[in-house]
Amino acid sequence: MKSSGILEKYRSLLNLPAHTKTISLGEGETPLIPIPHIAEELGGGFDLYVKYEGLNPTGSFKDGGMVAAVSEALGAGAKTVICASTGNTAASAAAYATRAGMKAIVLIPDGKVARGKLVASVVYGAKVIQIKGSFDDALKLVVEITKKHPIALVNSINPYRLEGQKTAAFEIVDQLGKAPDLLCIPVGNAGNINAYAMGFAQYDGLKKTGVPEFLGVQASGAAPLVIGKIVEKPDTIATAIRIGNPARGKQALEVVRKHGGKIIAVDDKEILAAQRRLALDGIWVEPASAAGLAGLMKEIKEKKLNVKGKKIVIVCTGNGLKDPDIIEMAKPVLIEPTLEMLEKAVL
Ligand code: F0G
Repeated sequence: MKSSGILEKYRSLLNLPAHTKTISLGEGETPLIPIPHIAEELGGGFDLYVKYEGLNPTGSFKDGGMVAAVSEALGAGAKTVICASTGNTAASAAAYATRAGMKAIVLIPDGKVARGKLVASVVYGAKVIQIKGSFDDALKLVVEITKKHPIALVNSINPYRLEGQKTAAFEIVDQLGKAPDLLCIPVGNAGNINAYAMGFAQYDGLKKTGVPEFLGVQASGAAPLVIGKIVEKPDTIATAIRIGNPARGKQALEVVRKHGGKIIAVDDKEILAAQRRLALDGIWVEPASAAGLAGLMKEIKEKKLNVKGKKIVIVCTGNGLKDPDIIEMAKPVLIEPTLEMLEKAVL
């Protein structure tokens, strides 16, 4: 089957300017995978699914937004795009820009960018600039430079990013037949939770499919929306969401106020445990992507959430292959290539 991508598929539902020149790498149509074993372990009586956005072309949910932002920028005549990134936005911007015949410049924080993401930006031909500062510093800089020079900003401040990303909510509704009761989602710069809210609300307006409550999950070392103030030195092993001053933070709080739910924090241990548990069900995601499940586990354990009879979707935003270095592993056993030694090793 030809994969035409989300812009072609959902064009009439997307608020994109007429000049948009549609490109695609076949993004979207990611699976909604049932995880009944994990639901059982958490007490059962509810349906639990993973929306596995890590199966997009560059391995993260960013592709849904990036295809829209780059297509618009291309149509508007931009030659170069720029973004600040903890890694995934950078890889996605790099891939879509080169696909569109444009240049990409990506600003990443000093250290703490998962290797798979950095390598991706390089291999797609982006100019990678590391700054002696945080993601939040990088974001400030790209906003400044795009005000001064004709370079298109493709961070999620760009409204077309959310237009593209909201299609993941359409997909969930199409896959489930209606909106879930609860959506568990990691929160970093807070673009994605807003995109999902937009998507569910739009479909609900058209087809009465409902809008879920939201469980937004930050890492406890980078949880400005939970503690109610900017975090100057955010720190977490979930480097993708190592953000102290989310650009769409206020809007994210508005989402949970309007649709119900909350934003909570989980610590790195809880994130790694959730990552490990998903992997043992065959779904390997990067640490930030496991925050949604970590949050759900915590809420259920602390009896703060009634899940009985509900349909719950966990958004897994990025592929585990992005960040293999975070996995602790013993060296594989090494044997002589004989049947005898193999039998000794496996029996
Ligand atoms: N999960 C992953 C894997 C991410 O890369 C990000 C954000 C998020 C969750 C949070 O999404 O920012 O919309 O709330 N990564 C950005 C980046 C910041 O630069 O790649 P958000």
